[in-house]
Amino acid sequence: MSAKPAHTEAPKAIYLKDYAPPAWWVDTVDLHVTILDGYAEVTATLACRRNEAQRQDDLVLNGDELALQKVSLDGTLLPSSRYALDAETLTIRGPLPDRFALETLVRIEPDRNTQLSGLYKSADGCFTQCEAQGFRRITFFPDRPDVMARYTCTVEADAARFPQLLSNGNLVATGQGEAGRHWAKWQDPFAKPSYLFAMVAAKLDVLEDSFVTRSGRKVRCAVYVEPGRLDQCGHAMAALKKAMKWDEERFGLELDLDTYMIVAVGDFNMGAMENKGLNIFNTKYVLARPDTATDADYQAIDRVVAHEYFHNWTGNRVTCRDWFQLSLKEGLTVYRDEQFGEDMHSRAVTRIQDVRGLRAGQFPEDAGPMAHPIRPASYAEINNFYTATVYQKGAQVIRMIETLIGRDMFRAGMDLYFARHDGHAVTCEDFVQAMQDASGVDLTQFRRWYSRAGTPRLKAAGHYDAAAKRYSLTLTQTLAPTAYEARLAEAGIASDNGPLHIPVAVGLVLPNGTDAVPTTVLSLTETTQTFHFDDIAGAPVASLLRGYSAPVQLDFQQGDDELPHLMAHDSDAFNRWEAGQRLATRALLAGIAAGGNGVDWIPPALVAACARIVADASAQRIDPAFAAEALVLPPEQVLAEEVAAQGKTIDPDAIHRARQQLRRHLATSLFAAFDTLWQALAPTGPYAPEGGQIGRRALRNACLAYLAEADEQAALPRLMKQFEQGGNMTDVGAALGILANLDLPERQTALDAFYAKWQGEALVVDKWLNVQATSRLDGTTARVRALMQHPAFDLRNPNNVYALVRAFCAANPRHFHAADGSGYALAADVVVELQANNPQVASRIARTFDRWRQFDAGRQAHARAALERIRDQPGLARDVAEVVGNALR
Ligand code: BES
Ligand code: ZN
Repeated sequence: MSAKPAHTEAPKAIYLKDYAPPAWWVDTVDLHVTILDGYAEVTATLACRRNEAQRQDDLVLNGDELALQKVSLDGTLLPSSRYALDAETLTIRGPLPDRFALETLVRIEPDRNTQLSGLYKSADGCFTQCEAQGFRRITFFPDRPDVMARYTCTVEADAARFPQLLSNGNLVATGQGEAGRHWAKWQDPFAKPSYLFAMVAAKLDVLEDSFVTRSGRKVRCAVYVEPGRLDQCGHAMAALKKAMKWDEERFGLELDLDTYMIVAVGDFNMGAMENKGLNIFNTKYVLARPDTATDADYQAIDRVVAHEYFHNWTGNRVTCRDWFQLSLKEGLTVYRDEQFGEDMHSRAVTRIQDVRGLRAGQFPEDAGPMAHPIRPASYAEINNFYTATVYQKGAQVIRMIETLIGRDMFRAGMDLYFARHDGHAVTCEDFVQAMQDASGVDLTQFRRWYSRAGTPRLKAAGHYDAAAKRYSLTLTQTLAPTAYEARLAEAGIASDNGPLHIPVAVGLVLPNGTDAVPTTVLSLTETTQTFHFDDIAGAPVASLLRGYSAPVQLDFQQGDDELPHLMAHDSDAFNRWEAGQRLATRALLAGIAAGGNGVDWIPPALVAACARIVADASAQRIDPAFAAEALVLPPEQVLAEEVAAQGKTIDPDAIHRARQQLRRHLATSLFAAFDTLWQALAPTGPYAPEGGQIGRRALRNACLAYLAEADEQAALPRLMKQFEQGGNMTDVGAALGILANLDLPERQTALDAFYAKWQGEALVVDKWLNVQATSRLDGTTARVRALMQHPAFDLRNPNNVYALVRAFCAANPRHFHAADGSGYALAADVVVELQANNPQVASRIARTFDRWRQFDAGRQAHARAALERIRDQPGLARDVAEVVGNALR
């Protein structure tokens, strides 16, 4: 095991300001990986070259859990006096020549690698994960992204157990060894940072296809999966080809390789990884068949496949100088996959879903103890910074640049970025500079978005002067200090302040429902600014932040008649949805303040607005996918943040009750309309995860959920019929999800039947765990504990942990935040047990405590006890120590 800090020491922080270029470059890496019984041997030959600008006598290499066998320099074995070895580094003592070849031989144990970082064993073979710092768990190396080298990799293993031997780039030689062994040699023509290295030795089936690039090159595309699952790979392959085409058309970016491979593995910490030419994916984002995967799964596959493919340019060809620049590749690539999603599916619905994700995931982060800007100034454990902020807010920051400079200038900026930086490891500043230089728009003030934590509040006040036909809009921005500024202050680092440059896309909707002006992007650069619109014929209703033009919290008092006007007439579909969400949120906050009881806080305007959506959908006046989104009330976590933003204590029971009351009230008030719409949306043809079908199913299942809310017994026959004969996982899973919330004997019957049918399909079993973990029924916490002992659950499998434990903690607020502390105790038990095996996954579970201080004293006491119990574990992993340390600070 690597050296772990004792629990008394706070994990040591690393600072952006301390960045220094490497003392040594590595031009080429020649790896030989020999997979043997119970261990593997790795020989690495590094062509090292002195960086004159950063002279240093010694060469320091990173290493983690490597058993060094020998080390030689230019062919001469080094005596132990020439190097020093500790738990994290191998130092070759100088003086050293300006260029030399360093060869190391190490042993590693893939079978015992439960962290799933480095080279690890899974059911079908050996796989790697090197981002961010996994390469050092394979061999000694300057494991930092600004050291870019050309790699060759020879993998040798038993041919029967590991028929497929893969690495980055092109296959250049293969051969047979003795005793049934074989080898394959791969060469990657592009220099890359070590985090993009990958290799696989496994027994897998492969789906092959090809893609002809716009310059006419034919590329081999391959998807490798567990034997027997080729029937579940077609969608991922199609997604890959769609992504290739889209990047050529939208950004002029063509694939630079002859082979592009995707490998699926069932044990994977993250969603997927963009290793050059050899992406490694969680099976969740590859495998899909209509009876095993939902529409949402299919769409997620599109997005993740595209995301990893897009990294080939934004991340791989141009990479990050250091890990503080993570948003350079992740924010930009999420922006690109969001754009792809909008082009492939409904634009408005995609935007709605992305913004909902930002609010549910990123806003709480920005308000909690781990708050940080998209480019943090410090971190203790980089794995803790693959966050909603770096990813989702990072993508919104890129989107704001596009909004400010326009789409064509944004494309010109991208072109310039590649022209300047192709083949280099660069910074976020380099990206913004390219955008500024290409567009001629000054982005100096805009750069503050990179160094400021927290969600800005945007206060708006409008005034219409009928005599002058002038509408005036006053915008005020505020950004309260977050936990991040406090952490910086402790480290003696001054934090940035001053107003942000916020693009506010505005529309003015006239009483007759038409737009008085085309959508106008206002640049708010001062704390308070007033903008005027002239020649406005009548008192308009302002539609602010169209398309959600900036990641801010809008504070704009609009009347109960204005929001329905926007819902009905706003030419911006996102804001039609948003108006409904604001109307519902306002009502729910009143209901929450009333303890969540009764219905007198529900305004008739809200019921009428929902009735109108249902009627419009029935008359086919609106997109069913949009209607489905419009009928979803703000999630409990988002409401909790609204309560916290008002400076009030979060009462998760009141939030749950209020939301349930409103759902039930809508369901009973609109029962007949939901019923009619449900009937009208019956499937008309065979299932396909595309086009209008997805929206129809989403809306029909939303209706079914409301019908069950109004009258369980009446809905039960439909639910059971859909569960038993649904024919596709979207409908079957939706029925099961509704049943899992009903206290009826049919619930258990359905759950048992589902498990009996699907116990051999790991991803479907995860759905079975998930619906139980997120059930609102009493006793859920005890059932989650029982499921942790079920043969279907393995704490070593990240997908199992995410489906059961993380879903319980993050998506079942009422039970996780139970007043008796039982939810917190469960989470702490899991974190304590898991942190020794898989600190990355344990840390993600620990993050679910983030908002503990927003609750009442009783809950806080339970949460504190749980956090302190985690903190006091001997040898606590750094990942968890940072998260828990910040939570308790
Ligand atoms: N580079 C990441 C994967 C990664 C993250 C590896 C952290 C190691 C540590 C990859 O490009 C990524 O961002 N994947 C996302 C999915 C994506 C669609 C946002 C993921 O894995 O969740
Ligand atoms: Zn990514």
